[in-house]
Amino acid sequence: MHTAYRSLAISAHAQPANEISSDLLVIPVFVDDDLADEPGLDAATGGELGRARQRGEFTGKPYETLAAATSAWKSPRTLLVGLGPRKDVTTEHLRRLATMGGLGARQRRLSRVAVVHRTGTSVAAELASQVMAEGLLLANFEGASLRTSGPAPSWIESAELRIPGDRQSVEQGLARGRVLGECSNEARSLSNAPGNDLTPRGFADKATAIANAAGLAIEVLDEQRITSLKMGMLLGVARGSQEPPRLVVLKHEPPGAIHGAVLGLVGKGVTFDTGGISIKPAENMDKMKDDMSGGAAVICAMAAISRLKVPVRCIGIVPMTENMPGGKAFKPGDVLTSASGKTVEILNTDAEGRLILGDGIWYAKELGATHLVDIATLTGACVVALGKTTSGLFGTPDSWVESVRRASVRAGDRSWPMPLFDDYKEQLKSEIADFTNTGGRGAGAITAALFLKEFSGDTPWVHIDIAGTAWAEEAKPYQPKGATGVGVRTLVELALDAASWSTGSR
Ligand code: BES
Ligand code: MN
Ligand code: ZN
Repeated sequence: MHTAYRSLAISAHAQPANEISSDLLVIPVFVDDDLADEPGLDAATGGELGRARQRGEFTGKPYETLAAATSAWKSPRTLLVGLGPRKDVTTEHLRRLATMGGLGARQRRLSRVAVVHRTGTSVAAELASQVMAEGLLLANFEGASLRTSGPAPSWIESAELRIPGDRQSVEQGLARGRVLGECSNEARSLSNAPGNDLTPRGFADKATAIANAAGLAIEVLDEQRITSLKMGMLLGVARGSQEPPRLVVLKHEPPGAIHGAVLGLVGKGVTFDTGGISIKPAENMDKMKDDMSGGAAVICAMAAISRLKVPVRCIGIVPMTENMPGGKAFKPGDVLTSASGKTVEILNTDAEGRLILGDGIWYAKELGATHLVDIATLTGACVVALGKTTSGLFGTPDSWVESVRRASVRAGDRSWPMPLFDDYKEQLKSEIADFTNTGGRGAGAITAALFLKEFSGDTPWVHIDIAGTAWAEEAKPYQPKGATGVGVRTLVELALDAASWSTGSR
């Protein structure tokens, strides 16, 4: 067994490519690239680059690669990576470029990697260094951390970024990217942890260690405290399990916070979701160990927010429980009373995430949150609607949804807004209680969000459904299979942008 990820020494400079000493030098190549700003590159490959381009073997399309020997240079191997037209290069291209470079080095069991930021793109030096540092750290993650046989994983030990421009800006970007990359990896490692290891108590212990290391205030509420808060929905879900629930509360209260806003982040922390009495089929049930990915995103984003000393107050709330069938488990037809007082008729015990989040959102408001975001692996319906690449965004007002959407673009976490028309509310009508916990066949991701809205009330609120994006089923050149850490960087980018939030209530 070994750790799931390694930290990494990253430095930045503006040396010409032939001067950079590394085991693997990574250089982007564009479509219609005359290479005028990289003199000697083609010659260093012995003309191999030019020939491959002439043959059409390597065209510069995004994420195409060509490995070439550059024996006359201080870096004897160069990995050329296509990034498309130079004018269209985005931060996400550069993040992925760095991840590909890092993964390429690890595959070849090379430990020193260098990545070049070419001139003439529209990405400025500070942002380039941030996202390239993120990408390199994301490459230094190992999913199979519990394997005891086979070759030990190879790690990147050090990395260099060649980024021309103002040195102070580059260093600032680097520092921010390092924190964002490390905290994303921490979240991936939590999502990857098996359910028997990461029980609600285990998860709360991990949260405590992470909070302590990041200088965050943390409180772990046990079953008694949760009972005295009357969180009937969290307690209802937890009843089927031998493992007691926990509620983690994190607080970031920086001196001189910019305005009266308090960002309330709420994450779903179901450490394993069997479906409960409405039990899931056996196929793929193992994947439900990642049903705490929203909670992991909140904990790790809060850690990053604290480490970066972001000047806005933030509260993180993570309700933690298993969803198990058991003699005492809650059942279809049961009615649960939420902490807010609203009553819910249970039609399906597998719609458990919205229950624990409803109590969590209520508590975030109790603690003074003025701007809410919840994040959860909430519905299979969201995967049907948007697939595995894009998270669903739901919320009100539109300006707050737009703030979160823009943060997700900066983070490289794809997301897209979905409607919350009142008409859908009919689907949650109950014969006996205030509403039901499921809305029938159509629009399952939307009715789940409308359920949550009952608890956010008039407070600006966005719900991010990461059911499709928390786990990558297929490897991409820039994204290995497994836990993605989705949401961590979005939440941090959102907090960093606090100065632009509207602080009126609507
Ligand atoms: N954790 C699941 C949602 C999920 C499904 C995440 C697939 C990742 C992949 C959630 O608790 C759930 O079971 N939702 C149900 C809701 C339904 C019963 C209304 C679903 O989506 O089927
Ligand atoms: Mn479920
Ligand atoms: Zn679930």
